[in-house]
Amino acid sequence: MTFAPFSRVPPASRLAGTVLTVAAGLTAIVLFGPQMLRMVAHATPHGPDIPLFLKQPTVIQAHILAAVASVLVGAVILAARKGRTFHRTMGWVWASLMAVTAGSSLFIVGLNGDYWSLIHLLSGWTLVTLPLAVWAARRHKVDIHKRAMTGIFWGASIVAGAFTFLPGRLMWTMFMG
Ligand code: HEM
Repeated sequence: MTFAPFSRVPPASRLAGTVLTVAAGLTAIVLFGPQMLRMVAHATPHGPDIPLFLKQPTVIQAHILAAVASVLVGAVILAARKGRTFHRTMGWVWASLMAVTAGSSLFIVGLNGDYWSLIHLLSGWTLVTLPLAVWAARRHKVDIHKRAMTGIFWGASIVAGAFTFLPGRLMWTMFMG
């Protein structure tokens, strides 16, 4: 028996994810394009601005640390052999880091004033999909587990991570400002 949410959703969710990413990218370009180009022209790449990191609220510090760690751990898991003890242990570490990343983001606003922004859709999607993907692994539904986890890694970690380096956002200032 296949689990309905995952057996039917992937092609549609992939399309929705792509449409959402392109729409968010185009909106950012139209709204902030000229300003961003000016910032790119004056960019001065440097190592991480640690004092700026230390000045951030704890929730943002926790979000950044968990997010960066989850990208690194996620990449190791994808490259390593699946199903062994290493995969299972690192899988729990990665799932916990993703839960902290998405959970902490619910307490961060700014892009859309005092309200949640489009990126919070990714947080909600991650918080719903993650436990279902873990459940699939525990029920040995390998195909569903694989699609859901790789979807979260690329769709949330990498896409949301890439967006944080847009000119004007904190990660940009931390490395380029
Ligand atoms: C390497 C990966 C990531 C990094 C470095 C990162 C970093 C940051 C930083 C520095 C902020 C606050 C400052 C700003 O908006 O510029 C932020 C906000 C946020 N992040 Fe992340 N993040 C990452 C991944 C994620 C992921 C995987 C999610 C969701 C699953 C996420 C969701 C959010 C949300 C919803 C906000 C609030 C945006 C708003 O102001 O409306 N981030 N992130």
